[in-house]
Amino acid sequence: MHTFKSLALGLLSAAVASASDVESLTGTTFPDFVKENPLVLAECSGHCKALAPEYEEAATTLKEKNIKLAKVDCTEEAALCQEYGVEGYPTLKVFRGSESITPYAGARKAPAIVSYMTKQSLPAVSVLTKDTIEDFKTADKVVLVAYFAADDKSSNETFTAAAEKLRDNYLFGASSDADLAKAEGVAFPSVVLYKSFDEGKNVFDGPLDAEAIEKFANVKSIPLIGEVGPETYAGYMATGIPLAYIFAETPEERESLAKDLKEIAQKHQGVISFATIDAKAFGAHAGNLNLKADLWPAFAIQDTVKNLKFPYDQEAKITADLIGKFVDDFVAGNVEPSIKSEPIPETQEGPVQIVVAKNYDDIVLDDAKDVLIEFYAPWCGHCKALAPKYDILAGLYVDQKFGDKVTIAKVDATLNDVPDEIQGFPTIKLYKAGDKANPVTYSGSRSIEDLIKFVEENGEHKVSVTYEEETAEAQKPIVESMAKQAEAATEAAKSVAEEATEAVKEKVAEATEAAEDIHDEL
Ligand SMILES: *[C@@H]1O[C@H](CO)[C@@H](O)[C@H](O)[C@H]1NC(C)=O
Repeated sequence: MHTFKSLALGLLSAAVASASDVESLTGTTFPDFVKENPLVLAECSGHCKALAPEYEEAATTLKEKNIKLAKVDCTEEAALCQEYGVEGYPTLKVFRGSESITPYAGARKAPAIVSYMTKQSLPAVSVLTKDTIEDFKTADKVVLVAYFAADDKSSNETFTAAAEKLRDNYLFGASSDADLAKAEGVAFPSVVLYKSFDEGKNVFDGPLDAEAIEKFANVKSIPLIGEVGPETYAGYMATGIPLAYIFAETPEERESLAKDLKEIAQKHQGVISFATIDAKAFGAHAGNLNLKADLWPAFAIQDTVKNLKFPYDQEAKITADLIGKFVDDFVAGNVEPSIKSEPIPETQEGPVQIVVAKNYDDIVLDDAKDVLIEFYAPWCGHCKALAPKYDILAGLYVDQKFGDKVTIAKVDATLNDVPDEIQGFPTIKLYKAGDKANPVTYSGSRSIEDLIKFVEENGEHKVSVTYEEETAEAQKPIVESMAKQAEAATEAAKSVAEEATEAVKEKVAEATEAAEDIHDEL
C-alpha cells in the first residue's frame, strides 16, 4: 500500500497570523501543492469565524503526524476557487492529487478533522492476520473482508479500488491466509461482509469486480427492514434499487407493521429495500412521494434511480396481502408512477417559459432548441434574487429574434415532478438542441453576462445576444410589464382555488425542506 503523505488545505478568506500552522496558498502555488501532497483537504469559506480556530488547532495537531493544513483566500483567488466549484460556503473537499476530489464528510471541529484526515491517510484496505481478523469483523456496523491468494494481483487491485471509493462508508480488510478463508468457509477469491444485524454476514464469491462489490456492499449493508432517517437516507439512495417506505407515527406501530411485512421484504430482498420511517418527525417527506402528509400509516415505493414515486392508496388498509400484491405488481411493472404537476399554463405570458411536469417534454426536450431551464423553489432566496435578471435574460432572446433557437424556462420543482436530480435551488441546466440526453449544469455566477456566455458556449446554435446595462434599462419597462401581465394572469387563474393551493404549496415546501434537511444532516 502506498502511505499517503497527508495534508489538509484550507481556503479561508480571513487573514491568519503568519505564525499559523495552516499553509497559505495562491493560484500559482496550489497545483504543485496538490501534486506533491496526495491527500489534501480544501476548506473554502468566505465567512467562517467558527471554523478558523478549529482549523488552526487541527493544523497544529496534524503537523506532528506530518499532515499539513493550508488555506487559500477565496476573495483574492476567485478563479482558483471557482475552478474547484467553490460557491456555497463553507465547502470542504478532500483532494487526492488533482484526480480524485471528494467532499469532506466529517464534523467541523478540530478533533473530528484530525480523526477524519488521519483515517484518510491510512491505507484503504487493512491487511489482516489471524490475530487481528476477529476484532476487525466487529470494528464497525458493516465491514468487508476480501480473501484472495497472495499472488492474485488482479483481485487485490480490484478490491483496493472498490475500497478507495467507499472508504468513507465501510471498513475494508483483506487477507491471503488460506486457513482464514477455510475457517470462513469461502474459497479464493471471495469477499465477506460482516454486519451487526439480520443474518450477520453475506458472501460474495467468484471473480472480483469493483462495480459488483460496490453494489453488493450497498445492498447487503441495508437491514431487511431498516429505518429511514438522516443517517441512513443517503445509504438507501446509493443502493440503486427501489426503496419501500412504511410511514407510521409510533415506534410500536412501526414495529408491528415491519413484522407484518417482513415476509414481503424477504421475498424481494436485493430487489427492493424496505424501511420504516417516523411519520411524526419526517412526515413531510411523504409529500415528496406524492402521499398526503397527514394520513397514517402510509406506504410508498420510490424508484431511487429515476426518482419515480409509487404511492400506495392511502385510503386502503396496509395488510400483508394487499401490500404483497402491490409490491408484486410494482416488480412486474404494472404500477404507474404518480406524476405531480401544476396545470399547463393556458398561455405563456412572459419571456420566461413556464414549465410544469405535464409540458416538460414538449418544452425542455424540444429537439430544435437550446433550452436553459431554472429549477426553483418558492421559498428559495437566491431564486428570488435571480428572478428579475432571469426575466431580462429571457427578454433578450425574444427581442433579438432568437426565440426559435433558444428557450429560457423555469419550473417550480416543489410542485412538479421532474426527471432531473436537483441538488439545491436554484439549479440551472442547458438542454442542447439535438442532444437532450446530456444536459450541462450551470455553475458560474448568476449574472446575465455569464448566463449569455454559457448559452452561447454550450448551446447547439451558438446564439449570442447583446446585453448592455442601458439596453436592459430601456427594456426594463417591457420586461416588467410582461412579468406583471404574467403575474396577473396567474393570479386570476389562481384565485379560484387560492386557499387550497396555498395550503398544498406550504405542505410541499415543508416536505421539500424536510427532505433537504435529511440531505443536509448527512
Ligand atoms: C495487496 O497488495 C499490496 C500491495 O502490493 C500488499 O501490500 C498487500 O499485502 C496485498 N494484500 C494482501 C491481502 O495480500
